[in-house]
Amino acid sequence: MTANTLSAEGAQTSASAEAAGLELHELRKSYGDVHAVDGVSLSLEPGQLLALLGPSGCGKTTTLRMIAGLEQPTGGEIRVGHETLASSTHSVEPEHRELGMVFQSYALWPHMTSFENVAYGLRRKKVARAEITRRVEEALEIVGMSAYGTRSITQLSGGQQQRVAVARALVTRPRLLLFDEPLSNLDAVLRESMRFEIRSLQQANGITAVYVTHSQEEALTIADVVGVMKDGVLQQLAPPQELYARPRTRFVAGFVGLANFFDATVLGAEGDRVRMRLADGTELAVPGPDPLDRPAGAEATIALRPEHFDISTDVDRSTTGRVALRGEVVSSMFSGNIIDYFVRIPGHPDEIRVQDFPPQRANPGENVVLSAATEHCILLTD
Ligand SMILES: Nc1ncnc2c1ncn2[C@@H]1O[C@H](COP(=O)(O)OP(=O)(O)OP(=O)(O)O)[C@@H](O)[C@H]1O
Ligand SMILES: [Mg+2]
Repeated sequence: MTANTLSAEGAQTSASAEAAGLELHELRKSYGDVHAVDGVSLSLEPGQLLALLGPSGCGKTTTLRMIAGLEQPTGGEIRVGHETLASSTHSVEPEHRELGMVFQSYALWPHMTSFENVAYGLRRKKVARAEITRRVEEALEIVGMSAYGTRSITQLSGGQQQRVAVARALVTRPRLLLFDEPLSNLDAVLRESMRFEIRSLQQANGITAVYVTHSQEEALTIADVVGVMKDGVLQQLAPPQELYARPRTRFVAGFVGLANFFDATVLGAEGDRVRMRLADGTELAVPGPDPLDRPAGAEATIALRPEHFDISTDVDRSTTGRVALRGEVVSSMFSGNIIDYFVRIPGHPDEIRVQDFPPQRANPGENVVLSAATEHCILLTD
């Protein structure tokens, strides 16, 4: 179902097919003392896909349900295009928000056929019979399910059911698509191919979308922007590559990819870099905010990704201008295209994780030098 688009004719007859962005302003939801969503603000351009990423209980579903109108915000505003969907004085009914939602559970009617499931929303809107047939067939075609219109839902595989759920979300020509972990019930192979299909459908139709997931891989591969949430708070909002290369907090660095953390002290600004001293006394100039956002003497954390280290048993090799650490390999792990090394560094509390391509460069018990370019050092805000 790649790159199929809803017909232009339909787009002209329906104002809702107009692309629209999404804006959340200080969005909150409390259940008693639990601040499920605690002041989330963000803005999406029309046609962008936002992945909301975070651990269980961080407030992803609650955020999505407030956008859908299934949950009333405790505070804040939700806007799509120029329309306010929710504010302290005003709330648009879910059925008038013109959005399509796909749930993890699919939420299809088991006693109905694929066709009837997709048609359901249009029938409720009292769309003319011939128009319903045309649009449902079009939506089933888009998701590659034309041949299954008369099948009952119980006779479809998980992946086929999920396609019907996507068709049902698309058929009303929503201005916003909302996905809540839509692929978690599928096997790994199907999950990956459905992910690409959802993405190309969303892009081809230019529909703004919010996609909730707790999988960092899914978030990075599908999104234009990723919002990382923790305890109801949006920790960082950035395009995938930027999020990975420049996580702001320890939590984001560790949740999106793997990271090694080093305690350091700020010495002062040095051009567009920041001079830092590591716990072992090494000084280095790392990329940092310009102007520098903290005083000399401040404690800070530097993160380094495992793949940015070189590992070598040639401990006397020159490491001039690079971060260099000497230690002993504790263990290593082969996983096909990658080898993980766990290296103990004197004076450092945690083992350093290094990832490199085969062949094996060092064995447990050997002394090694780890080195990394200073440009890969990530100065965190916490
Ligand atoms: N109806 C409710 N009543 C009370 N607390 C709730 C309710 N719904 C959600 N919560 C709480 O709000 C917090 C956020 O829940 P939410 O479902 O948004 O998390 P999530 O990020 O979607 O997690 P998961 O990945 O497990 O689906 C949790 O602490 C949860 O227990
Ligand atoms: Mg959830």
